[in-house]
Amino acid sequence: MKITIMKTEHDFDVAAAWRIIGQMVSKPDAVIGLSTGETTKNMHQIVSDIYKSYTFDTSGVTVFNVDELTNLDRSYPGSCYTMIYEQLVKNLNIPDENFIMPPTFSEDFDQECRIFEQRIKQRGGADLQMLGIGWNGHIGINQPGTPFERQTWVSPMDPVFEERVRRETNVAPDYPLGGLTRGIINIMQTRNICLIAKGESKADIIEKAVLGPVTTDIPASVVQLHPNCEILLDEAAAQKIIGRI
Ligand code: GLP
Repeated sequence: MKITIMKTEHDFDVAAAWRIIGQMVSKPDAVIGLSTGETTKNMHQIVSDIYKSYTFDTSGVTVFNVDELTNLDRSYPGSCYTMIYEQLVKNLNIPDENFIMPPTFSEDFDQECRIFEQRIKQRGGADLQMLGIGWNGHIGINQPGTPFERQTWVSPMDPVFEERVRRETNVAPDYPLGGLTRGIINIMQTRNICLIAKGESKADIIEKAVLGPVTTDIPASVVQLHPNCEILLDEAAAQKIIGRI
């Protein structure tokens, strides 16, 4: 496990953006997994800016997001499809057929999970997964307790996130919400993982995920077992591990 700590949030955003750019230019048919959220917004903007200034060939690049909310329309601004499309895909001229996302509505989500994985596999498997981390250590939407061998599935959301989505979408309290997420084993099958976190609010969970035991209680701790994983942080997120690694 390689740990990279950037001095400021902006330095972090730039470094994270270059992980994506680097993968795209070194392998023009790269298959890249992304994450949504506050952590990735600026980095996606920087990737778009770099592409605009120094355009390179993206016609063979495939991108997907590690997860997607289920039972909400893609037009909801919090849908992962919309976020990744608006923040990156449209700016980089990535062909529609190279943007792999599961549908948000389906009669058979188990099948959608298999199709999603199949589409990634058909392109040679994922080269890079940019992986955010939730406050409770979730990766994708895999919550604490999820077995590491779990394949891509529809998981409950973490309660804090679910509360926000319910508020923003005004759905009834019993309306079924969840998230189709790559399973932990599928994430681990990616050739390179870049786990990213910035800001003080991530300091406690980073300490647990990076220095604590590998346990399903902290899903992100599994990346300690990955042969090609970089943990990319800013100093605020790294504050509890600095001097201990
Ligand atoms: C959500 C997403 C995750 C993301 C996490 C962190 O749960 N489904 O993929 O990693 O949020 O989000 P943020 O960067 O906003 O802290």
